[in-house]
Amino acid sequence: MKVACYRAYGGPENVEVTDLPEPVAGAGQLLVRVRASSVNPVDWKIARGDFPFNLVKPGLPYVPGLDVAGEVVRGAGDFREGDRVYARIPGTKGGTSAERVAFDARAAAKMPDAMGYHEAAAVPLAALTALQGLTEQARLPTVNAEGWRVLVIGASGGVGHFAVQIARAVGAHVTGVCSGRNAEMVTGLGAHAVIDYTKVTTWNAGGNFDVILDCVAGESPSRFTPWLTRRGSYVNTLPDGGVFARQLLGALGVGPRVRAVMVRPDGDGLRWLNGLYEKKQLRAVIDEVFALDRLADAHRKSMTGRARGKIVVAVSE
Ligand SMILES: NC(=O)c1ccc[n+]([C@@H]2O[C@H](COP(=O)([O-])OP(=O)(O)OC[C@H]3O[C@@H](n4cnc5c(N)ncnc54)[C@H](OP(=O)(O)O)[C@@H]3O)[C@@H](O)[C@H]2O)c1
Repeated sequence: MKVACYRAYGGPENVEVTDLPEPVAGAGQLLVRVRASSVNPVDWKIARGDFPFNLVKPGLPYVPGLDVAGEVVRGAGDFREGDRVYARIPGTKGGTSAERVAFDARAAAKMPDAMGYHEAAAVPLAALTALQGLTEQARLPTVNAEGWRVLVIGASGGVGHFAVQIARAVGAHVTGVCSGRNAEMVTGLGAHAVIDYTKVTTWNAGGNFDVILDCVAGESPSRFTPWLTRRGSYVNTLPDGGVFARQLLGALGVGPRVRAVMVRPDGDGLRWLNGLYEKKQLRAVIDEVFALDRLADAHRKSMTGRARGKIVVAVSE
């Protein structure tokens, strides 16, 4: 099967398109014909070979990609041949920049009928990070969240643009932090207020927040925690040792509630997101679609840190 893979650890200059043997689905695993995948920053961070939380360094060749949308070739669990499914596949070893991938069926959900493969590939890892960060780590209710004030830092990126929509859908008041060029997009996704981080430095002028979801993690949490309400949580998608230390202290009742989100595969979470999609409360903004042959360029674009929404990789039509 055709794949795009890293032949050596490092940057996208090490990507090549080649043939590798098809994976074999084990017990409880689906074999999926990959129609599309999407890029998450973790894909190219893992490729560097020194990603701090990469407990198992991937072997070479490394086929990146943790998001998949495609058709079931070999069923398992509730899924049958021909089902249109999508998933954030388990683990950190990747595998979705390839014509076939095998993974645990519990990570998958059927795609909504109206959802195309490109959009479906854009959703899983980023939207599940947003969902788990908001609802599990920050305890945002999944219904009737009126009265909750949510700040999303990095509201125009992959995780942030889903977070804005999820928080809005459950009823919260949403403030998105993005640059001026993305303000219209973030407002269009449902944010009640938008703050241009290139111009404004104090973001709580309209009131403190019950949830701060930091998808940029460029600064110490201590800049933001004074803006939390008493029930508030600050959640970071790119935690370092300082965040974990604060998380521990917060759990012991010392200082503000600081949490890290580490996304896990979650078929049930995707089915919950399907409900929002069907109510037109969730959509993926796609910045650009790259053919599999251009995976290196897709990674280069993600590495700029300027993507609007998601970068998709079209694997097979
Ligand atoms: N822990 C986990 O499980 C997990 C899961 C997913 C992602 N992550 C991590 O979370 C981070 C975000 O992921 P992502 O997929 O959302 O990334 P992304 O799509 O590459 O984010 C790009 C966006 O960030 C915005 N941005 C950059 N600097 C900003 C700033 N200072 N303030 C506000 N917005 C800013 C950019 O907007 P402008 O161009 O307007 O600046 C752009 O729209 C990455 O570091 C990723 O590795 C972690």
